[in-house]
Amino acid sequence: MTSTAPEHPCQALCARLGVRYPVLQGGMTFGSDGRLVAAVSNAGGLGTLGTFHYRTAERVREQLAVIRAATDRPFSVNVPFFEASFELVEALARQDGVRTFTLGGWFSEPMARLKEELGLTVLVSVNSPTVARMVAERPLDALIVQGNESGGANNQFGTAQLFDLVAPTVSVPVVLAGGQWDGRDLFAALARGAAGVQLGTRFFFCDESPLHPTIKEQVLDQNLKRPLTTALVPVSDTLNMRFVTNKAWRTAMKEGEVEAIFRDKERVFDLSRAYFEPQAKPILLYAGTGLYRLRAIEPAGAVVEGIVGEYRALAARAMPAL
Ligand SMILES: Cc1cc2nc3c(=O)[nH]c(=O)nc-3n(C[C@H](O)[C@H](O)[C@H](O)COP(=O)(O)O)c2cc1C
Repeated sequence: MTSTAPEHPCQALCARLGVRYPVLQGGMTFGSDGRLVAAVSNAGGLGTLGTFHYRTAERVREQLAVIRAATDRPFSVNVPFFEASFELVEALARQDGVRTFTLGGWFSEPMARLKEELGLTVLVSVNSPTVARMVAERPLDALIVQGNESGGANNQFGTAQLFDLVAPTVSVPVVLAGGQWDGRDLFAALARGAAGVQLGTRFFFCDESPLHPTIKEQVLDQNLKRPLTTALVPVSDTLNMRFVTNKAWRTAMKEGEVEAIFRDKERVFDLSRAYFEPQAKPILLYAGTGLYRLRAIEPAGAVVEGIVGEYRALAARAMPAL
């Protein structure tokens, strides 16, 4: 008789997404364009297109064309919670044939109907147990728990804490996001029972990201001289953003600028526009806690391969018998 080991959640996740590795690149509003998405998907991970910054379906379509010209591998489109989230998903699913979505903090009833009608794959990213509870009854394919180590929109919970609070309440694969960086993190995530890892910051600082090269190089130089730290800043009652603690951040904090920016959506867009232009001096910059581990600006494919290679080396090594 042969006994088969039970399937690890990472296998269910990879099968559902049609990807080789349980390594996801998180959607980043302006930081994950078509070029980056295609590079990650071509390397066997799941690339995810950010959309918030593009604002219209037409501009998202330009990025879809970039992705499809460069890869035929699966990819996802991230649509965070905002007024017209469902309309955007519906347009992209019906008119453009997008089949995988990563919803940022929402999963409405019309969305569940659309998923069933078109056979969509739907991942939902949550940053608190409350939001996880709100979507838990929906027909999710996977849940991403994003802890406040991340460079994205955070709540009060750390990544491991959120996993421990949320994973026992759902039956779908759960992916860790927030502070994930290398093969050790993937190994630890799978050992914890998670289905995979989602990385934002590391891909934000890779070759193909649209962040201007002068900013990437400046951050890398500073980090190699003295490890960069980040700070979590409350910008509203429920939202915390994490920034590099550089001079621009110190000045903005002293002048109450960070909160002022987040009171005005247009100023948030202005801030992101600066990321596409050459910068001689440090600017206010989002990043997750993992940034101190940035050692090179690498192609996204090398990042994915590096993570998988490190994971394999660890998985091949027997742990001491206690
Ligand atoms: C610059 C930046 C922008 C982001 N924008 C979004 C977004 O638009 N929607 C979303 O669901 N998550 C967003 N995120 C979160 C990422 O998808 C990912 O979950 C997170 O960055 C993982 O944590 P890490 O930064 O520590 O790797 C963003 C992250 C960064 C760094």
